[in-house]
Amino acid sequence: MKSAHTNGSSLNESETGRTLVIGSSGFIGRFITEACLESGRPTYVLVRSSSNSPSTKATTIKFLQDKGAIIIYGSITNQEFMEKVLRGYKIEVVISAVGGESILDQFTLVEAIKNVHTVKRFLPSEFGHDIDRAEPVEPGLTMYEQKRKVRREIEKCGIPYSYICCNSIAAWPYHDNTHPADVLPPLDRFQIYGDGTVKAYFVAGSDIGKFTVMSINDERTLNKTVHFQPPSNLLNMNEIASLWETKIGRMLPRVTVAEEDLLQRAQVLSANPIGTNPPEMRIPQSVVAAITHDIFINGCQINFSMDKPTDVEVCSLYPDATFQTIAECFDDFAKKIFGNAKAVSKPVTTSNNDICETAAKPEALAITAICT
Ligand SMILES: NC(=O)c1ccc[n+]([C@@H]2O[C@H](COP(=O)([O-])OP(=O)(O)OC[C@H]3O[C@@H](n4cnc5c(N)ncnc54)[C@H](OP(=O)(O)O)[C@@H]3O)[C@@H](O)[C@H]2O)c1
Repeated sequence: MKSAHTNGSSLNESETGRTLVIGSSGFIGRFITEACLESGRPTYVLVRSSSNSPSTKATTIKFLQDKGAIIIYGSITNQEFMEKVLRGYKIEVVISAVGGESILDQFTLVEAIKNVHTVKRFLPSEFGHDIDRAEPVEPGLTMYEQKRKVRREIEKCGIPYSYICCNSIAAWPYHDNTHPADVLPPLDRFQIYGDGTVKAYFVAGSDIGKFTVMSINDERTLNKTVHFQPPSNLLNMNEIASLWETKIGRMLPRVTVAEEDLLQRAQVLSANPIGTNPPEMRIPQSVVAAITHDIFINGCQINFSMDKPTDVEVCSLYPDATFQTIAECFDDFAKKIFGNAKAVSKPVTTSNNDICETAAKPEALAITAICT
């Protein structure tokens, strides 16, 4: 087992709550690892060693290591190795945030957790919807079926678990981007799914991390599905479009993407133009389109009651904790565009040199910006 300890320090035998995060270099995994480190838990990070790692992955791992993460090199597909890791580091909590293509890899991990008997909580890679309730079209359904298989295996093995259903990440919900929070909201036009009135929960990545880590310490979330439903973050597409307009200080055209268009985009992308045969799915973009359809047409985040004995909700569990609002998240995106507070006061000209003052809008940044 090769690991890199922060500051070269050795393991403190009295440390409790040792948590292993898998997928820390990924989109969701990084938020979770940062929250884990901030909570003060001894945090171990499993990283696949690969000579051609993209530099962003290496940068993320170095960043987490500098914050105190202990790096362990290896893959969850090696069961013997995983058992050694879990035993050797006395891991109590395992959080997996492997990506959609690696969901079934978790079977070996489940087997290793079962064999060591010492893991007090396992969080498999979920971080979306309640996959036992939602029924997206293909290819989203295949991914949900894989996640369901992992759930059933965990339950069959009697492993203590929590399933984190954090809903959507706070960002513009692009139907063709797996990681929408990595991309700025639109600056040219909005694509609105259906009539734009179906609501969804938009949760900041840092809050996904924070509440995930809070839940692992909590007996009330043991063998439960943990739903993130902050009322302040429940918005529809028309509302988030208007909110973004206040942040950038201008109106954008709205283009409707009808249900059938969205369904077609889930099925036919990439090499074959829409409407040609045979249809070819582009993974993972087709999965995202299928799930986007489920959220903004079917209303999968809001069309059920919390009526199972296994359902718990984070706002009820932690009534004093606050969620970052989508307005605050959009402020951060706007800062990326306009720079710091001083920079945003610079006027931005358009092709027809129209300039408008937007400071009058209550939620707008104090900017002078383009009118369309
Ligand atoms: N709610 C939302 O808005 C939202 C958005 C996106 C994803 N999700 C969900 O969040 C979960 C994570 O997805 P993601 O998009 O964050 O994933 P991602 O960015 O693709 O990252 C996956 C991570 O898992 C690691 N990994 C994969 N296979 C592994 C293995 N065999 N052993 C060790 N590490 C392995 C990868 O390591 P390498 O760097 O070595 O490849 C990477 O760090 C998924 O369940 C996904 O459905 C939710």
